[in-house]
Amino acid sequence: MIRTCIFDLDGVLVDTARYHYLAWRRLARELGFDFSEEQNEALKGVSRMASLDILLSCGGVRDKFSILEKEEMAARKNGWYVEMISRMTPEEVLPGVEAFLTEARRVGLKIALGSASRNAPMILDRTGIAHFFDAVVDGSMISAAKPDPQVFLLGAQLTGSAPVECVVFEDAEAGIEAAERAGMRSVGVGGSPTLARATIKIDGFEGFDVAKMKELL
Ligand code: BG6
Ligand code: MG
Repeated sequence: MIRTCIFDLDGVLVDTARYHYLAWRRLARELGFDFSEEQNEALKGVSRMASLDILLSCGGVRDKFSILEKEEMAARKNGWYVEMISRMTPEEVLPGVEAFLTEARRVGLKIALGSASRNAPMILDRTGIAHFFDAVVDGSMISAAKPDPQVFLLGAQLTGSAPVECVVFEDAEAGIEAAERAGMRSVGVGGSPTLARATIKIDGFEGFDVAKMKELL
């Protein structure tokens, strides 16, 4: 039985994955190298500092900087990112998401957020979807990032569900692995080939509903 739906945020409910990419690419260019969308796939779902390490490896400069310098770079990237997300509007919620969340609540499912982002509360607020959530777990509440299962296990705990009663919606490979390690079923959202291990895959929430979810899982 499914009691709780746990949603990743970036790339699942809103297209902030794009803003993350633009901000990381700007940093890469300032450092003197380019950063492609393919390379960016590896950053999805990954924490801010781990993302920076991957980016620096792509530019072949990972070992060139001190921890302090890296913290400054991550802060610079986050400044650009926050500038973009602070202008977000409810129109940026991905198609079908609000209908799915509305139906899930109506049929009595619990709704949790399981995001690695420390900016998650601001995004929920700017896009007007905060009211859907029974529990919000963001990057400031966890000590181990995806693929560690902590973020989803906390979401289960806060909504009073056992892991087997939870289903995770994710657009990132690290998130699908985290769900697997948490003992939860998963829905891979967005059609990336890296989501092969998800229990089921959907392109997006348009045309998807609770009955389909229950039937397919
Ligand atoms: C995840 C994103 O949701 O949050 C990653 O998929 C991002 O790309 C991570 O690095 C941390 O986000 P933030 O907003 O705290 O830098
Ligand atoms: Mg994501």
